[in-house]
Amino acid sequence: MERLIVKGGSSLKGRTRISGAKNAALPMLAATLLTGGEFTFTNVPMLHDVTTLVMLLKDLGVDADLSPGSSSCVLRIDSSSLSKYEASYELVRQMRASILVLGPLMAREGQARVSLPGGCAIGARPIDFHLKGLELMGAKLKLEEGYVEAKAARLNGAHIYFDVPSVTGTENLMMAAVTARGKTTLENAAREPEVTALGNMLRKMGAKIKGLGTETISIEGVRYLNPTECDIIPDRIEAGTFMMAVAAAGGKVLIEDVIPGHLDAVISKLRVAGLHLDVDNDRILVKKRGKLKSIDIKTLPYPGFPTDLQAQMMAIMCLASGLSVITETIFENRFMHVAELRRLGAEIKVEGRSAIIRGVKGLKGAQVMATDLRASACLVLAGLAAKGPTIISGLQHLDRGYEAMDKKLAALGANISRVNE
Ligand code: EPZ
Repeated sequence: MERLIVKGGSSLKGRTRISGAKNAALPMLAATLLTGGEFTFTNVPMLHDVTTLVMLLKDLGVDADLSPGSSSCVLRIDSSSLSKYEASYELVRQMRASILVLGPLMAREGQARVSLPGGCAIGARPIDFHLKGLELMGAKLKLEEGYVEAKAARLNGAHIYFDVPSVTGTENLMMAAVTARGKTTLENAAREPEVTALGNMLRKMGAKIKGLGTETISIEGVRYLNPTECDIIPDRIEAGTFMMAVAAAGGKVLIEDVIPGHLDAVISKLRVAGLHLDVDNDRILVKKRGKLKSIDIKTLPYPGFPTDLQAQMMAIMCLASGLSVITETIFENRFMHVAELRRLGAEIKVEGRSAIIRGVKGLKGAQVMATDLRASACLVLAGLAAKGPTIISGLQHLDRGYEAMDKKLAALGANISRVNE
């Protein structure tokens, strides 16, 4: 089994390039199901989740050719030969974002049979918003043997309200609506940049969409869509993770190919904590000078502080001076990393949805287990700050969402190696 060995004590210096965003690439690849013809994607991150989705698309009869480049890859997809509309449990189990094929299959085929994704380490992760929205658009749904079967001759536009903003819920229903009969309004929609990136791709394909990036998105159904080519936007969560890596290890790093406007909440919080950030139009110079101050964080839908950076923030607050309170409002079980951080000597108390972190003088390396994607990043950061070796298992989580994170950190001077034991 592969493990990461991280030895703290070396500060980071140099420059690193942020890869394309996993959570933009996944819905955009799913959108190729909406119409035949050749799509080309550039700046595609080489990630396990991307290869899983490409496998699923190929299973549906789609032609896909992933050609790895130097630091990212080019992906060509042609879904003209789409021959199936079923996403199997085997593939959906590996990656819940496979549910994103539901909307485009309903829009193009009028039928879909997709395995329910099931829960994951961070929460139950229901998809009731996705299903209710499709029903409002006229789909007939049947749930059996762990699959949702959806049918509709042609979807009709509808007025859909999300109880809470849902990223993939907004994405799935936006894709279902682009060729529906009439107008669809998505109220309390997600405003994440990855949702906007998908919407911009759909507009390039000929879709009529207004309100991207706001809480009300309206879509006027069209009859035909065309294939297009798209560059995947930079991954704001990877960028935030690297900013926090400097906060953990110390040093000075230039983070390139980033969209600072996607990180306003993170930049302002890290500045309050005492990290020095010089922001330019597509790069951020990060410098650590002295101990961080403790701060309070509450995760919220975009443009609030992202839940996907909560665990990483907790890692750096373990060594900040004073008490920090981190409240997780998005997922009900996203503190699995607390027990692992305690193994490194962190002092953290969990009260309901909040974790209270008392800064300690130092952390000491130990064996730890990653439980989910962002928890694995959190443990790497904690290892960068700890004395002695931290041995991290559960790397399958890390490799799902970060392109060569260990290699990028090693290139910045971190003492980090991947061993096969
Ligand atoms: C997306 O997940 C991201 N994944 C997650 O990133 C991210 O943490 C999350 O959005 C929140 O920003 C992808 O984009 C592939 P939600 P998603 O629907 O869409 C509830 C990572 O680490 N809800 O926005 O599944 C849900 O339980 C991953 O890259 C319902 O109740 O999240 C949660 O409390 C982890 N019913 C809240 O809404 C539904 O039908 C927000 O979830 C859908 C969601």
